Amino acid sequence: MRLWGKKESHAFDFGLLKTDMHSHLLPGIDDGAPDLATSVEMINGLIHLGFKKLITTPHIMQDMYPNKRDDILRRYEALKQHLETEGINVELGVAAEYFLDDNLKKLLADKEPLLTFGNNLVLVEFSMASEQYNFKELLFEMQMQNYQPVIAHPERYIYHERSKEFFEELKVAGYLFQLNILSLAGVYGKTVHELARYFIKHQYYDIAGTDLHNVHHFTHLQSSSIAHGLKELLDAGKLLNPEL
Ligand SMILES: [Fe+2]
Repeated sequence: MRLWGKKESHAFDFGLLKTDMHSHLLPGIDDGAPDLATSVEMINGLIHLGFKKLITTPHIMQDMYPNKRDDILRRYEALKQHLETEGINVELGVAAEYFLDDNLKKLLADKEPLLTFGNNLVLVEFSMASEQYNFKELLFEMQMQNYQPVIAHPERYIYHERSKEFFEELKVAGYLFQLNILSLAGVYGKTVHELARYFIKHQYYDIAGTDLHNVHHFTHLQSSSIAHGLKELLDAGKLLNPEL
């Protein structure tokens, strides 16, 4: 059964966003698609929702997914080739989701080129358990090297849910915020959903992405709370997705 088979009437037309810039579609490289068949199913599902361009972002995380730039690019080319052979018509791009760890610190120290999208944008994440002591230094160093950090799913860092100054500081420092669209469907719990609503209200988001990891996410992507939230963001005219 294809989980994305039927489109709900209240579902959002993701063609309005044009681009999904956060997903885990490369097979067998992180906690996303485990194999090529699943990759293709996930990609077909995103096309079915209306997306025209998919920038996939495998994890680069020293402890769990020590992926390397060249390997990611090789796997991306192979997937792109496969889509062409199968006649699957979508623009596929690649970047990465960098965990702010010692590996990234070393890449920056060695001036190794990072995997970017758009205008030198770099997707980053950090610990969801507690605040890391050095993450602000790393973000600053990225800025110094002319990268534009994009904080993936800030609404998931709920240890700061009560101290909104933490997020305000990141915005003032110039970092972009990326909404995980699934947060609006309550996939990560009530507190995350409420923080996402707070960020929408205060116009903190700059970009939205699915952060798609598996085909089960498709049922949630059609929820009406997602349609309402994304419409608010698009009406506010702040989302960069269509330009990516
Ligand atoms: Fe992700």
